[in-house]
Amino acid sequence: MANKGKILVTGGTGYIGSHTAVELFNAGYEPVIIDNLSNSNIGVLDGIKAITGTLPTYENIDCKDYISLGHFMERHSDIKAIIHFAASKSVGESVEQPLVYYRNNIVSLINLLQLMPKFNINNIVFSSSCTVYGQPDVLPVTENSPIKPATSPYGSTKQMSETILRDASAADKNLNVVLLRYFNPIGAHPSAEIGELPNGIPNNLLPYLTQTVAGIRKTLKVFGNDYSTPDGSCIRDYINVVDLAKAHVCAIDRILEKKNKKNLEVFNLGTGKGVSVLEIINTFEKATGMKVPYEIAPRRTGDIEQVWADASHANKELGWKAEATLEETLLSAWKWQQKLQEREPKAE
Ligand code: NAD
Ligand code: UD1
Repeated sequence: MANKGKILVTGGTGYIGSHTAVELFNAGYEPVIIDNLSNSNIGVLDGIKAITGTLPTYENIDCKDYISLGHFMERHSDIKAIIHFAASKSVGESVEQPLVYYRNNIVSLINLLQLMPKFNINNIVFSSSCTVYGQPDVLPVTENSPIKPATSPYGSTKQMSETILRDASAADKNLNVVLLRYFNPIGAHPSAEIGELPNGIPNNLLPYLTQTVAGIRKTLKVFGNDYSTPDGSCIRDYINVVDLAKAHVCAIDRILEKKNKKNLEVFNLGTGKGVSVLEIINTFEKATGMKVPYEIAPRRTGDIEQVWADASHANKELGWKAEATLEETLLSAWKWQQKLQEREPKAE
């Protein structure tokens, strides 16, 4: 396949970055990865190679390090666009260590934006989050729904990053920005060669659920069954990580083919369907034939009741649509958990 050009993927050994590197290869791009391995490991590169047949170019670079980042760009003078995944992403940790979060997530972004014009890189796709909407008044949320005050330093960094990118794109009309607001990414590559590698005890639902089924955790706690939802548990929009990765390729195609209508565009990336925690458990059991040991627990502080995306803007403008069924996605998450068990069969 013809090489459509080099795409710098920051945080490319991470969960979403690694799946995106695979889809970039599949689409004929050449992903070049930088990552400081603060939340991933080098073995992910072998997973990418097992799927695509190509070991991606990789360097261990910290995006907070302006000098090293500049030297990297100097060595790769033909980068067409950047997809910026590298960030710290744990909501709870961000409350305990806010300065670490502001420094990592904000300094990294500013470094990239200051270096881009020096190396004639005009295009950047940024990982934002549905967290910017808080608990929306109207569902589903569109890109024009109000941005609510952030409920954590992590959420603040996403809002601030969006503002920084908005201001930078207003000041420099040559700069093309795509803000992608992810809903809840779950699942793994169907090959089970790459997936999510949660550090320590997972906070997110899916890794906790699969670890419970694998016997690593005793019981999954369902945080609240007294919400104003049909079955009382919280509702989210769970998006398959491979579908999510493909949306990045659509965003890159759009800016490189100059099909963007403004030099800053925003897209919700979700399925458009809300699913409750109890529905996730039931569907997982149906898809895998495994029992999920769970109990109802008190609400988790800071949780919002329900949120799901209106993804029609991405459907229409990016020509992208979430395709995987929830069953397929949950099965992929379980296959990945089993693969991890084969590698490290430790139980707590
Ligand atoms: P991840 O932690 O798996 O990947 C992030 C990668 O960035 C890791 O490999 C980490 O080592 C690397 N990294 C962090 N700081 C770095 C730095 N200063 N320099 C170089 N590398 C650095 O997380 P993910 O789930 O793949 O998330 C990717 C992006 O998407 C993040 O910006 C995250 O905030 C955003 N996001 C994630 C979710 C989610 O649920 N996973 C939801 C919304 C938005
Ligand atoms: C959280 C973050 C969000 C971030 C996302 C990805 C908050 C308030 N939001 O989203 O900013 O972008 O993670 O990292 O922290 N649940 C259980 N039991 C569990 C774990 C989760 O019942 O053991 C429920 C939660 O109550 C929630 C749903 O599962 O209703 C999804 O939770 P989670 O995976 O943590 O994601 P969010 O809270 O939606």
